Amino acid sequence: MPVTHPDTPPPIVSANGRATLEVRDLQFAYPDGQQALKGVSLEMAAGEKVALVGPNGAGKSTLMLHLNGLLHGAGEIEVAGLPVVKANFPVIRATVGMVFQNPDDQLFSPTVFEDVAFGPLHMGFPEAEVRQRVVAALTAVGMAAHSSRLSHHLSIGQKKRVAIATVLAMSPEILVLDEPSAGLDPRGRRQLINLLRDLPLTMLVSTHDMLLVQELFPRMVIMDEGRIVADGATAVLLHDVALLEAHGLEAVIGSR
Ligand SMILES: Nc1ncnc2c1ncn2[C@@H]1O[C@H](COP(=O)(O)OP(=O)(O)O)[C@@H](O)[C@H]1O
Ligand SMILES: [Mg+2]
Repeated sequence: MPVTHPDTPPPIVSANGRATLEVRDLQFAYPDGQQALKGVSLEMAAGEKVALVGPNGAGKSTLMLHLNGLLHGAGEIEVAGLPVVKANFPVIRATVGMVFQNPDDQLFSPTVFEDVAFGPLHMGFPEAEVRQRVVAALTAVGMAAHSSRLSHHLSIGQKKRVAIATVLAMSPEILVLDEPSAGLDPRGRRQLINLLRDLPLTMLVSTHDMLLVQELFPRMVIMDEGRIVADGATAVLLHDVALLEAHGLEAVIGSR
């Protein structure tokens, strides 16, 4: 393994590592008939960081699973100008890095190294580059010292960081994170905030953590019952206590 220097910024994100995202009138029902998305439209500029909030069952995860074609509803989705259709899945899945809420859904190899190497290996990179990508991605999430550990022995916070590394190793242009701070202790949460702040990627992050929203995301989108009910500047929406309460969200203004 090459020696890593924690101070050196990892060469993980290319200079043009950003892409736009556009969702138009997306509707989706699960096979049991549950209508989870009832006409969702959302545009994100390249490099924009957007928080996706709303009560449990609002449709946040369902929306996210559409962004790289894991679910397919009615309506249109474009990633970096490319429609999310089967023919484009290889490019789309390299462009959109999807981190699931539960890291156990993302980590399935024996060791941390193998988990992070899986994506780049399957993208066909030569072994030396795979190795370099794994080291850079683990360094970016502060887990370089743990590459030979068994993934299932890690703490929840460490698993979450490795799950993020598995997608960073593929140099995504859009990062989609489903409740990344849930279950983290204060230090893990702080490390996550610093990591996300420093990553110059287009980012859509679902969360119940309103302090995280306030600190990291200039724009927030509120979903409830399968619809977007508000989309605007975080600084404005976080002051709208009636709006927040109507959608089961905590007002945090004034607490810091
Ligand atoms: N696999 C599934 N089968 C049927 N209904 C589901 C499934 N997953 C989620 N749902 C339903 O879809 C709606 C949206 O869920 P979800 O996208 O998980 O919301 P959120 O991520 O905002 O909590 C909810 O009513 C939920 O019960
Ligand atoms: Mg969810």
